[in-house]
Amino acid sequence: MKTTELPEARPEQQGRLVAVIGAGTLGRRIALMFAGAGADVRLCDPSAQQRADALDFIAQEWERRTAASGVMTGKVNGVESLADAVAQAWLVIEAVPEKLPLKLEIFAQLDQLAPADAILASNSSSYPSSRFIAGLSEEGQRRVVNTHFYMPPDRTAVEVMSDGVTADWVIETLLRTLPLYGFTPYRVLRESVGFIYNRVWAAIKRECLSVVAEGVASIEDVDRLYMSNTGGRQGPFQQMDQVGLDVVLDIEEHYAAVNPALPTAPRELLRQYIAQGRLGKKVGRGFYDYPAGLPEKQ
Ligand SMILES: NC(=O)c1ccc[n+]([C@@H]2O[C@H](COP(=O)([O-])OP(=O)(O)OC[C@H]3O[C@@H](n4cnc5c(N)ncnc54)[C@H](O)[C@@H]3O)[C@@H](O)[C@H]2O)c1
Repeated sequence: MKTTELPEARPEQQGRLVAVIGAGTLGRRIALMFAGAGADVRLCDPSAQQRADALDFIAQEWERRTAASGVMTGKVNGVESLADAVAQAWLVIEAVPEKLPLKLEIFAQLDQLAPADAILASNSSSYPSSRFIAGLSEEGQRRVVNTHFYMPPDRTAVEVMSDGVTADWVIETLLRTLPLYGFTPYRVLRESVGFIYNRVWAAIKRECLSVVAEGVASIEDVDRLYMSNTGGRQGPFQQMDQVGLDVVLDIEEHYAAVNPALPTAPRELLRQYIAQGRLGKKVGRGFYDYPAGLPEKQ
């Protein structure tokens, strides 16, 4: 993609807002982190219910974490209109559902509605932001970037990845600024389908599935051995049950589409469980059974 040289300018942050688009699982958590460290946040969602639930979550989570000792120095306002959310933003973080047409539409709108120097970041887990900048101006494309958050406030890592033409100041501003809000940023050095940690985790899941598919070990022993050696609280099969085996299969299919050399046995094992309706914790059975009424094993 051809770009012209544009002036390298950093957005003025003083007196400006952080806008988070989508108040679901991740959006509300990202909003919590920024507001907790002093930012004025606009949390945008078309669903009034989602906005209300998100504000409740943020209030409760803040109280739980600070045990009433810490006053939130910033604030979060729920808004319906995208234009209102981003009008005064220096940073916009998109966390809407993982649907490519929706991301394309939102980013084209953000390019029109946000101040010209605002950073436009996506939290997408599976799409590099190069996939949804087609409808943006050339200048707009240079301010788009992936910021892949995990599960804040418990997991504070965030991977920062260029869309191929992202301006250096965008990456530098994020690497310098995110720690002020309690995040630990990691720079992804080149475009990757799947972020750094997700790829590592995908390889662990894949090998665990292969070990079981080949009859080398039982599911229970793989989990116990993994926990014993890593100190983790859950084994890979327990974690796959938590995510949902259909979701795990979708993710693996996504990697396999990019890399056809990946082994097929892990996906075949997942399909066997899915065909039996064993989708994981959400339906009460996956690799393990989760009888109703029993406390969740964490
Ligand atoms: N859930 C995770 O563990 C996780 C982790 C890292 C990244 N992500 C990524 O974060 C993004 C969001 O995932 P999530 O799990 O929070 O999804 P979610 O379904 O929990 O929340 C999405 C929210 O976006 C709202 N929304 C829908 N259309 C909208 C629009 N036009 N404008 C504003 N809001 C809109 C929905 O009402 C919903 O509240 C996805 O791209 C996903 O890949 C998710």
